[in-house]
Order: sequence, then C-alpha cells, then structure tokens
Amino acid sequence: MKEENSQSAVVLESNSSETTHSSTGEDVQRHWQGVVKRRSFLKGLGIAGATLSAGSLLVAEGNAQNARSSGKLSKGDVALLKFAAAAELIEADLWQQYNELGGVQGGNPAYIAALSNLDGDMPQYIADNTDDELSHAAFLNAYLISKGEEPVDLDAFRNLPSSQASGAKDLGRLTNLLKLNVDLSWYTRYRSTQNPDFGVKFKGPFTISNQPAIPLNDTDTPPNQPQPVPPATPQEARMQAIANTAGFHFAFIEQGGASLYPTLAFKATDPEVLRILVSIGGVEIDHFGLWHDKSGNAVAQPLAGVTDPETGLTFPDLNARNSELDQTNLILPEPCEFISKSLPPCSVIRPTLTQNGGAVATIKAFTDDLLFLGQSQAFFSLVNRLAVEADSVRRGF
Ligand SMILES: [Fe+2]
Ligand SMILES: [Fe+2]
Repeated sequence: MKEENSQSAVVLESNSSETTHSSTGEDVQRHWQGVVKRRSFLKGLGIAGATLSAGSLLVAEGNAQNARSSGKLSKGDVALLKFAAAAELIEADLWQQYNELGGVQGGNPAYIAALSNLDGDMPQYIADNTDDELSHAAFLNAYLISKGEEPVDLDAFRNLPSSQASGAKDLGRLTNLLKLNVDLSWYTRYRSTQNPDFGVKFKGPFTISNQPAIPLNDTDTPPNQPQPVPPATPQEARMQAIANTAGFHFAFIEQGGASLYPTLAFKATDPEVLRILVSIGGVEIDHFGLWHDKSGNAVAQPLAGVTDPETGLTFPDLNARNSELDQTNLILPEPCEFISKSLPPCSVIRPTLTQNGGAVATIKAFTDDLLFLGQSQAFFSLVNRLAVEADSVRRGF
C-alpha cells in the first residue's frame, strides 16, 4: 500500500488549466515532460499525455498527505533528500549543457564528431545521462513535496554564462563548463588496492587544469569542421581536446555521485528514504562505469596524443606506461582494503566515509573543479548549509 500511494502521489493528474504556476512547479513539469518523452512509461499506466503541472503537484501533495498522514519524514531524512535534490539540480544543469551541444540531438556537429571519436554511442549516452539527472532532481523534489516538505529550488542562481558556440542555448546556468580543473585521482584510485578511507591520497595519471569541456564559440572551433583521427588542423585538435576533457569530466562527476549516495544512504532512517538513495545511487554508479570506459579511449590508441594548441594540454598514451595504475581497460574496481586491513580485499565503491565522499566533500570537489566559477556567495552559503546538514545526520531508529 505504501508504495502504491507513493507512486500515485507523483502521477496523479488534475485540471492543469486552473492552476497558478510557480517556477518550481513549471520546472518540475518541464523535467517530467522530458523524462516522459524518453521513457513513455506513463503509456503503460494508461495515462499517456498526462502532465505534471504545479496544480497537479499540489493535488498530489494533498493526496499524499491524506494517504500517509502519519508518514512525516524525520528532519535527518529530509536533510539527506534535500542535499541529494540540490546535487541532482547541479548535475542536471551541467548535463543539459553537454546535451545541447553534444547529445544525440545536439547542435554542434564537430563537437558531436569529436565525442564520437571516444565512442560512437557517446551522443546517445549523453542524452540519456541528462534525462536521468533531470528525473532524479524532479523525483526527489516531488517526493519532498509529497511528504509536506519544501522542494529545493536553485533557480535564483542560474546566472552563469552559456557557451557562445552553435548548439548552446542562451540561458543562465548554475554551473560552469567553460574552464575546468578535472581531478583525475579517481582513475588511479579505482585501479589501486588502497582505499582513500584509510587516509591514502591518490594522484591522477595526468593533469587537466583550466580547460574548456564544451566548445567556447564558433571561431575557436568551427561547428561543421571534420574531426578525423588524428586531428589534421589546430582547430580540429582543439575541438578533440575539448571533447576529451569532457569525457574525463563525465567520469569525475559520476564517480562523485557514486560515492555520495552510499554515504547518504548509510544515514537514512526511513526504509523508503533508504530505498530512494540506494536506487538512485545505483544509477550514478552505472553512469560512472560507463564514462570510466569511454574516457580511457582518449588516452589509448588510436586517439592518444592529442594536444590542445591553445593550452598545451596533451592527452598521453596511458597504455604506453605499462602500469596497472594507468592501463585504460582496467575499468572495473580493483579489490581494495575495506573496513579493516585485516579483512581480505574487496571490490567496492570508494570512498564511502562522510569526510571523504559525503555532501561537504562533494561540494568541495565540485568547487575545486571550478564547476561553480562565478557563483554568488548566496549560492555557496545555501549549498554548503545543505551539505553540512546532510553530513550531520545520524541514522535513527
Ligand atoms: Fe543523478
Ligand atoms: Fe549522475
């Protein structure tokens, strides 16, 4: 019963024309429409074409409250879900930028071609990863509303500039992709038998600092140029380097989600909140595994060796190093120390301690990545407050 009520709280429909739309409601509806378009899962429920307006959310909220009047979440569970919702809004914002330019319906053919040099299915994966993040954000906020809680709204902070390149919409953004530091320590960490939760620090196999992950404008990288392997002109090399940086950034973002969700789940009290965190977390891990594989193709033959003529960044041939800490096809997590060094090595997601993979650590990693370059103090205050509140939660019974 519990599950059915929870589901109906999300998909119930009302007369959408009689509603007053809040920006959050419109946002949720837009996100849901995107999700419905891809999955068509409402069809199976016999309510194809249903919309989730602000009004229907309010009705859904009312129904949920009636059905589950005793189902108020603990303050701690709310804090976990709110941080997750904020993280998903951030993820959704950056993935939307990638999708506009390099997704399967993206508007920058040269960027799409350069990404496709990593794997022919990259544009489809980018589109689907974007849908997944939109669905995570919309679901978490709808769930919070269904439990009588305030959703997380970051719309006031969508002020960062868009790319000027063909394909990018001229919108205010939450996140910056025009100049990034991409921490590659995850690459070594997942090939190592050591675990950062035992205090070990890892260094990436090379360094990506102050590099664009999306094309900046059409003069820098013409949108209709070919992208041969290897690149034949400086502009082709520039675009390939940008796509390669994106490939590593995808994995960086998703390994963060892969660690974040287990740390949050560990603190959940309500079994349904635990179920949500574990279930979404599983998809973050799926994303990470995918991007880990694709990013390696930028540093393996035949693509390895690309140098950005503007910045000098070179993507080396990591397989030429003959080291298991670099080998590009060692993408499945190496068994490592876990819980106690006296126990045998175990193949696990790592880190999963709050101080290394929790909410504050996630915001710090994203900040160091320059993902929030140009964001306001009010933005940092809000996301850091949500992060501290989530990390402070202790599991209750
Ligand atoms: Fe997500
Ligand atoms: Fe994700």
